[in-house]
Amino acid sequence: MTKRLEGLAAIVTGGAGGIGTAVGLLFCEEGASVLLVDRDRDATEAAAHAIREQVPGARVAHAGLDLATEAAAAEAVALSKEAFGRLDCVVNNAGIRAYEPLAEARAETWHAIIAVNLLSYAYLAREALPDLRASPAASIVNVSSTHAFNPRAGMGQYDVTKAGIVSLTRTLAAEEASRGVRVNAVCPGPTLTPFHIRRGEADGRSRGDLETERRRDCLMERWGTPREAAYPILWLASPEASFVTGTAIMVDGGMPVI
Ligand SMILES: NC(=O)c1ccc[n+]([C@@H]2O[C@H](COP(=O)([O-])OP(=O)(O)OC[C@H]3O[C@@H](n4cnc5c(N)ncnc54)[C@H](O)[C@@H]3O)[C@@H](O)[C@H]2O)c1
Repeated sequence: MTKRLEGLAAIVTGGAGGIGTAVGLLFCEEGASVLLVDRDRDATEAAAHAIREQVPGARVAHAGLDLATEAAAAEAVALSKEAFGRLDCVVNNAGIRAYEPLAEARAETWHAIIAVNLLSYAYLAREALPDLRASPAASIVNVSSTHAFNPRAGMGQYDVTKAGIVSLTRTLAAEEASRGVRVNAVCPGPTLTPFHIRRGEADGRSRGDLETERRRDCLMERWGTPREAAYPILWLASPEASFVTGTAIMVDGGMPVI
């Protein structure tokens, strides 16, 4: 059977763990060449190594870049072309969180979260577009959040950036449709990644505790896995989604219904 991304090259940001690594693995399984980009160079290298062990012959490269700086976007595109000679797909997935109620939100936190969660997506898309427009199967997938649509108290800065990603996605889809670049968003709900595991441990809860915890914030009453978030990203990036652009797919176990 033909692999879904055979012959294509992708950049995946935030590739050092969690959803980003799961996307890198799945893309490699489906025949893509993948550049994992993350500010955590060592963890990104380890993720690339783990993918090579799981997918014999995987074409996976890695780069340690701080995507909060505008220059990192052009660097990532150049590295993909150097490694694979092409670029067909961008998965913008890097993200940070902030927990300041808006009444106490500091300028420093606003600037930091907007730089990573929103501007890095915009800059990487902009720098990738000349190559994407030349690709026969061009796609950008932006990782937003269910909380783009379901904002909550206490994480306003994060939720605003995630809503901004959906808006960015729709505008870019409108601007690039005639040039053959599809642009979509995926909106995960609670997904058990190393971020949550570290946070749980700091709280005295083990990974096992988190895994068995019944979640009351989504219909499926459990955490999603990184791979469950990666599959819709794969589908959006693949030719199977050739008539899909400007949309946001909820991958949240039914959270908005609650
Ligand atoms: N895990 C969840 O429950 C969940 C839910 C909804 C949305 N999301 C979103 O999914 C994405 C991945 O989340 P996750 O939980 O898998 O991992 P995560 O939130 O721990 O972080 C993603 C990666 O981004 C990297 N990163 C942060 N700042 C960076 C920078 N300046 N430059 C380069 N890399 C940087 C981190 O090092 C990390 O590896 C994030 O955008 C997150 O907001 C996650």
